[in-house]
Amino acid sequence: MTAVPWGLLPDSAAVGEHGQLLVGGCDVGALAEEYGTPLFIYDEEQLRARCREAVAAFGDGVAYATKAFLCRAMARLAHEEGMQLDVASGGELLIALSAGVPADRLVLHGNNKSDVELIAAREAGVGRLVVDSFDELDRLERLHAADGIVPKVLLRITPGVEAHTHEFVMTGQDDSKFGFGLKVGDAARAVKRTRSSGAVELLGIHAHIGSQVFVAGFYTQAVEALAPFVNELGLPELSIGGGIGVAYVEGEEAPSITEWGDVVRAACVDAGITARVSAEPGRSIAASAGLTVYRVGTVKDVPGIRTFVACDGGFIDNPRPALYGSGYETFLPRAVAADRTETVRLVGKHCESGDVLVPEAKVPPGVVVGDLIATPVTGAYGRTMGSNYNSLGRPAVVFVANGQARLVIRRETDQDLLATDVG
Ligand code: LLP
Repeated sequence: MTAVPWGLLPDSAAVGEHGQLLVGGCDVGALAEEYGTPLFIYDEEQLRARCREAVAAFGDGVAYATKAFLCRAMARLAHEEGMQLDVASGGELLIALSAGVPADRLVLHGNNKSDVELIAAREAGVGRLVVDSFDELDRLERLHAADGIVPKVLLRITPGVEAHTHEFVMTGQDDSKFGFGLKVGDAARAVKRTRSSGAVELLGIHAHIGSQVFVAGFYTQAVEALAPFVNELGLPELSIGGGIGVAYVEGEEAPSITEWGDVVRAACVDAGITARVSAEPGRSIAASAGLTVYRVGTVKDVPGIRTFVACDGGFIDNPRPALYGSGYETFLPRAVAADRTETVRLVGKHCESGDVLVPEAKVPPGVVVGDLIATPVTGAYGRTMGSNYNSLGRPAVVFVANGQARLVIRRETDQDLLATDVG
């Protein structure tokens, strides 16, 4: 049994003089006191560094997939570091625009965009609209007839590549709700139709094979599958989507954004692709910059079976274990480098036995009520997939850097919970 793997903590993690965790020069325990728990803490410099790495790996067209983690501070940060932003709904579009990100730096996704979303994006002048279906093309033609706006578009193509990841986040296979199938000929039909339509300006092709993909070679396969199509069309742009994986638990290893970019570029060169190649990383930008800190409220020892450590959060701030069976590490911020010699079950406070954050959580001996307990690598698809189940408010988010913390999302209050209840 060992201490929490250091590589899973944010880049700026350091051990304070009492053995406690510091991130961005801030004492994690003090942050929990000041902002309450559960609390999401992000290493701002790490977010910035990953954005810069993505721009260096893929160039100007690379977009941050905001569904991984979004608030106005994050939108601004990614924009300042030179990334475009991928937004996948009217709400994500709204937040990015209200953060001051210019519309032409935004890429709108969605397999079922509403008229309201399409109108908002076209009127704002989003840089790229990624068209997902023939029905969407019908809608765009109808809207064009009314207002004459001609958006720049990419077509989302399903390349028929099965990246080995969780079934719920695989998207490149033929049997997918997303995009135009390459093998069935829909992709070719969509190109023909968009080229002859005055309602859109076709700039290129987009493919996204899935998420939490550990093997960069799947992108080589996707590029190989798309190459004949892309080359024949002579379109200027190809986006290979997002999806490169990150390590969550001890022993996992994932390619860096730089390595991913190298693999994709090499595959494109080999396949003779001359289009500008871009990507849309989300998880690899945000996941390991963030951690969640909870306070322990109940410790229940069931003799001969196990110890349940219940914290003040749960599957409403991190639904990934319940949804995908995803694993996380645990540690005590007061003793970050301590050997974790005990195994407990870290559970939340919600009214379901499935509200388990870490089924076999390693902790140092002596976890007591009132302790803080933390899970690293929760910066992506945690806060953004959270809910208000059991009518509990969502946690606050702070960015830390250079010994300073700033609140970027405040904790939801009782008033927030009542705000939409008009009965
Ligand atoms: N581009 C498109 C079109 C996408 O659908 C996604 C993710 C991305 C980019 C970013 O993928 P990333 O680099 O973050 O893997 N909730 C799941 C992940 C769902 C991903 C959905 N689409 C999870 O927690 O694992």
